Amino acid sequence: MASKKFKALEVKEIEPGKFQSTIVAKNIDELPAGEVLIRVHYSSVNYKDALSANGNKAVTRGYPHIPGIDVSGVVEESSSAIWHRHDQVIVTGFDLGMNTSGGFAEYIRVPAAWVLKLPDGLTLREAMIYGTAGLTAGLSVSALIHENVFPEMGTVAVSGATGGVGSLSVALLARLGYRIAAISSKASSKNYLESIGASEVIARADMEDKTGKILLRPRFAAAIDTVGGNVLSTLINSLDYGGVVTACGMVNGGDLNTTVFPFILKGIKLIGIDSVELPLIERMPIWENLGSSWRPEKLNELAQEVALSDLPQVLDQISQGQMQGRAIVSLY
Ligand SMILES: NC(=O)c1ccc[n+]([C@@H]2O[C@H](COP(=O)([O-])OP(=O)(O)OC[C@H]3O[C@@H](n4cnc5c(N)ncnc54)[C@H](OP(=O)(O)O)[C@@H]3O)[C@@H](O)[C@H]2O)c1
Repeated sequence: MASKKFKALEVKEIEPGKFQSTIVAKNIDELPAGEVLIRVHYSSVNYKDALSANGNKAVTRGYPHIPGIDVSGVVEESSSAIWHRHDQVIVTGFDLGMNTSGGFAEYIRVPAAWVLKLPDGLTLREAMIYGTAGLTAGLSVSALIHENVFPEMGTVAVSGATGGVGSLSVALLARLGYRIAAISSKASSKNYLESIGASEVIARADMEDKTGKILLRPRFAAAIDTVGGNVLSTLINSLDYGGVVTACGMVNGGDLNTTVFPFILKGIKLIGIDSVELPLIERMPIWENLGSSWRPEKLNELAQEVALSDLPQVLDQISQGQMQGRAIVSLY
């Protein structure tokens, strides 16, 4: 299949520090080496894709580049004994869309070790409504359950609640019967957050502590933080005794301003979440739950479907923190 052409969204550095995304025709033989060639059916849009499209060299070192950290699709060619033509598969994370040509394209070629069978209970489209955001939300929920956070223990806060990881965290927790306080900077999204399962919506500005006090009034049994910075430190300092908080993101900042006191006086636990390098064997039970007992009733309402040509606008929206829910990209 050396000469076949396919469509992709390519990011180029048009002048130093200035990046532009355009739809281009690529050749299959330009794809990197790898055992599995996949015809992409859907991709999805994540915060990291916006970083890659905007020239963030911590995510993508070299341009021109095709972003897209998530893919669902069908195996077209495989030199691996594990995967065969017509297998329905997903790929999320690892180096896909970072320094390996990504899913904003009709084809990807990747190592067999990055590929997972399409989880039972999900279509190729639904798998991308989840994508990396859903896996990350699932890992966060799983971490709370592992630490024995049960619904009767009190309210679970979710920050960045209208974002991809945030929305899916709210929807999964609601499906599992938790009471959720959605923390959001978007006053206009109150109805949306309630419709996906939030019991209460708190404005980020009202929730963030500005006093610098370390031991604040306890108000949450647990929290899923997707934004970092002062929101994460406020959450740590506002948990009930024995509270648990997961951290996966840093759109609000990478610094963590707290002390050991919440940890040593209240037994607070801070759990880091990584969905990128996590071994496939540890992803499988999460995907199994996402396709079955954790699946939100309104999963299909959590995403808007966009075309490759809409991506520059959607990536801008994510960069500006304006995303509500998920965007999936149809490529088939
Ligand atoms: N560790 C991992 O494996 C992993 C995996 C996936 C994502 N992440 C990280 O998780 C974060 C969220 O990713 P995503 O794909 O869900 O992004 P997203 O869809 O853009 O959502 C981010 C949300 O955070 C809030 N937000 C935006 N800018 C903010 C700011 N300056 N301060 C505070 N809140 C802000 C907004 O929600 P509101 O307006 O509702 O507040 C926004 O919708 C990113 O940092 C991403 O890199 C990590």
